[in-house]
Amino acid sequence: MKPLGVGLIGSGFMGKCHALAWNAVGSIFDDVPRPRLVALGETTQDLAERRATELGFARSTADWRALVADPAVDVVSIATPNHLHAEMAVAALAAGKHVWCEKPMATTLADAGRMAAAARRSNSVAVLGYNYIQNPVVGLMQRILDAGEIGPVNHVRIEMDEDFMADSEAPFSWKSEAASGHGALDDFGVHPLSLIRVLFGEARRVCGHMAKPYADRPTREGSRRAVETYDIATVLVELENGASGVLSLNRCAWGRKGRIFVQIFGAKGTLVYDQERMNECLVYTADLPKETQGFRTILTAPHHPPYDRFVPASGHGLGFNDLKIIECRQLIGRIRGEEARILDFEDGLRIELTIDAIARSARTGSWVEVAPSREGALR
Ligand SMILES: NC(=O)c1ccc[n+]([C@@H]2O[C@H](COP(=O)([O-])OP(=O)(O)OC[C@H]3O[C@@H](n4cnc5c(N)ncnc54)[C@H](O)[C@@H]3O)[C@@H](O)[C@H]2O)c1
Repeated sequence: MKPLGVGLIGSGFMGKCHALAWNAVGSIFDDVPRPRLVALGETTQDLAERRATELGFARSTADWRALVADPAVDVVSIATPNHLHAEMAVAALAAGKHVWCEKPMATTLADAGRMAAAARRSNSVAVLGYNYIQNPVVGLMQRILDAGEIGPVNHVRIEMDEDFMADSEAPFSWKSEAASGHGALDDFGVHPLSLIRVLFGEARRVCGHMAKPYADRPTREGSRRAVETYDIATVLVELENGASGVLSLNRCAWGRKGRIFVQIFGAKGTLVYDQERMNECLVYTADLPKETQGFRTILTAPHHPPYDRFVPASGHGLGFNDLKIIECRQLIGRIRGEEARILDFEDGLRIELTIDAIARSARTGSWVEVAPSREGALR
């Protein structure tokens, strides 16, 4: 396979993470030709030029449409604010490019449907940045579940908490605008839902509640602006396999920095994982004698692939940016037609249908069935 030509749109938190992944993927994975970093798109030419130099891209532009049309670009990384994903992804797919789009897929179900339809019409690969599913520890948990070590799962509880919006005086940003989506529900909720999707499958019906801890926030201009999104969401879930679940999502959780606390309860044991301690998981199995029962801590090691590609020694640990490098390798695998552990726009649409069902449930106060994908795409 010849090296892929990469175009990156957006170079903030996630854009830098994508750029690091594109820079590193050929070094970490020796079976991947080093990609060509063709062009970086930003809001202004100055910023685009500066970031292109820092991040190793050959060209820069303030016009993302020119980047998407560039014949040297094979794959477009979209790391812009949520409301821009749909327009950019649909244009990139129409231009015959592969797409690696940040989460959440879109800010409306109609846009997610348009994106999935554009991917279906194309011959391209279109995937989403649900990076936590890439953790080798999550792969290990999947193997433990598949081996039946904790028996049939009857309950899953996932809490995702951060405190970057916990300060009521934190300035109003695009994350508080209705145009960015529902709030914690889609900003955070897509991560637990992607974990549920790879570990168990589908949500069948949901019951949600959304809360707004602060009514307004200061603007950079010195006034105050009403908060349009909900920074807290709580969800009851019933899965297709009959298991029940709880999702608890909070962007205002003082003290929690990057917590995704996953507890999976089975008939014969329990699995526990926390993204703040992303290099370990806890396993409890009920088959040991009572006096030695207790949680075992398993640290990541070379026998939890692809940890071995990063470090030859056990327990040294991977970091957040490494998950994006693994995700990038999975994307390249999918483009090469290999079996790849990555969620595409069809999976994304299913996740967005679940998000939409939760939001409707929060409005009506009752349980809502998650619509089948095709039906949702057409609505
Ligand atoms: N996967 C994850 O774990 C994760 C974590 C954080 C954010 N995200 C997602 O990544 C996306 C970006 O979030 P972020 O935190 O990096 O935001 P950010 O504000 O740090 O960066 C966004 C960048 O996009 C640029 N941009 C805006 N409009 C543009 C346009 N029209 N053309 C080109 N560039 C444009 C901005 O100048 C900025 O540099 C969001 O969708 C967010 O939900 C994902």
